[in-house]
Amino acid sequence: MPQLTCIDPNEQAIEVAFEPGETILQATYRAGVDGILAECGGGCSCATCHVMLTSDWDGTLDAASPQEADMLSFAVDPTPQSRLACQVQLNEQHDGLTLTVAKRQY
Ligand code: FES
Repeated sequence: MPQLTCIDPNEQAIEVAFEPGETILQATYRAGVDGILAECGGGCSCATCHVMLTSDWDGTLDAASPQEADMLSFAVDPTPQSRLACQVQLNEQHDGLTLTVAKRQY
């Protein structure tokens, strides 16, 4: 099973196995990763699932939709690598991906 590495707000690195087709939110929720609140349950309407991906993965990820980009403007201190965990679908290419959970979600 492919895995990603998640750096939580306490700077702990957590290995998270995922099924291709899952979102980052689904995989990290199942693994019990701290710091992703996901208050809207994955509906792209809260921006409390803010994560930062390393730029190495830019070519393998779908670009943020206009709705995701709009919601990211409500995230705390977004960066060019910011994404909403509920909107990023994972596939086999993402084995080894590293992401950092935002220190604060609001
Ligand atoms: S869970 Fe609400 S925007 Fe991702």
